[in-house]
Amino acid sequence: MADDADFLDMMKQIPDLLAPSLAEDWPELPTVRAEGAYLYLADGRRILDFTSGIGVTNTGHNHPRVVAAARKQMEDMVHSAVGITIHKTLLELCHGLIEVLPEGLDMFFFGNSGAEAVEGAVKLARYVTQRPGIIAFEGGFHGRSYGAASVTSVKAKYRDHYEPFVPGIYFAPYPYAYRCPFGNSPDAALEWTLYHIEKLFQHQILPHNVAAFLVEPVQGEGGYIVPPPDFLKALRQICDQHGILLIMDEVQCGFGRTGQMFAAQTFGVKPDILSVAKGIASGFPLGATIASRDLMRQWKAGSHGTTFGGNPLSCAAGVATLQVIREENLLENCRQQGKRFLDGLLALQKKYPMIGEARGLGCMLAIEMIVPGSDKEPNPQAAMQVLEQCLQKGFLAYMAGTYGQVVRFIPPLIVTAAQVDEALSILDDALAVVSRR
Ligand SMILES: Cc1ncc(COP(=O)(O)O)c(C=O)c1O
Repeated sequence: MADDADFLDMMKQIPDLLAPSLAEDWPELPTVRAEGAYLYLADGRRILDFTSGIGVTNTGHNHPRVVAAARKQMEDMVHSAVGITIHKTLLELCHGLIEVLPEGLDMFFFGNSGAEAVEGAVKLARYVTQRPGIIAFEGGFHGRSYGAASVTSVKAKYRDHYEPFVPGIYFAPYPYAYRCPFGNSPDAALEWTLYHIEKLFQHQILPHNVAAFLVEPVQGEGGYIVPPPDFLKALRQICDQHGILLIMDEVQCGFGRTGQMFAAQTFGVKPDILSVAKGIASGFPLGATIASRDLMRQWKAGSHGTTFGGNPLSCAAGVATLQVIREENLLENCRQQGKRFLDGLLALQKKYPMIGEARGLGCMLAIEMIVPGSDKEPNPQAAMQVLEQCLQKGFLAYMAGTYGQVVRFIPPLIVTAAQVDEALSILDDALAVVSRR
């Protein structure tokens, strides 16, 4: 306890120690331990965590099998600069991934993070096509390194003072039916997006100069936006017609989050290149750029590299993560509990006019807050107040959306029905308080 009091005291030093660019994020919880769906704080509180470290701990915090696998690996070898040394868990992880990936995605470049997985994908696409153009989507988030920030457009704030970005990047609108100026149906949203892609081809870049489309199958930071069911199929068609590669960024929506191992499977569309990270190793830093052998073999030796990527601890944790997802039937649990939670959110939407929309897939769920009675005016203040009320009652969720108007829920895939019900009950109370203000 003395240590925890000391920790709480040390928290006051954050403004002097940590860069405000990140340290002023919400809510800076002093956490001493994490297990399953719970965080344990230095002040003695236990928090039901529906952020999962922003979509990372899909198997729950500190899953004992993941921890044991990493511990065992640590005793044998902590670091391997892949290429100089090869460790067995790296190859085991490749085989484990091939089993669960869409068929034909069977060659890997491992990095440490989502941003690196996206950078790798964009570099690979340009390298093999020798075309400059990348078409990304408005509202997308792909990371903070320069290449990843260059294809990110969720908030202008993320781009402020960083220009000039990597050249050759173009943006098309994401099919966001709730806020589509062309009509609020999925069909209208899809048409709107396809119209703008056609305009890009007419006015800005000919298709034969485009290396790749880069897309999140479900937009994450953008607000947990589920696109119309035919969106990815339509993109696939455009790509096939023009020899353009399709890159899917499944950093946030991969590893079971949408109820299938990958959202590519949920939508039945295969990418040429897949970027993954976050949930791959249950909290150990790992990311991967994945493609077919045909494509990947064109990326000549020395044209991309890493020191820490694919490190032994993360790979061991990755192998264990895949086993846990399969053996504990987490995809099925994700679908079941996700449905239970979404049904609850839809019921709350009927009760509270400040919820404009409740949406999501699997355990990737959100409510979009609006000013009641307005024409969908985004309500970031209400979103933050709801989050704060929830946290006061022991339930942690997180914000999203271009205006910060979305409350997103990212429960671990081990979540139980009782925890879902508890979360919904706290959320209901929080919404009642905020609605009265
Ligand atoms: C879809 C997506 N891509 C890329 C990233 C960047 O990942 P990282 O923070 O590990 O670099 C994120 C992070 O939130 C993400 O959600």
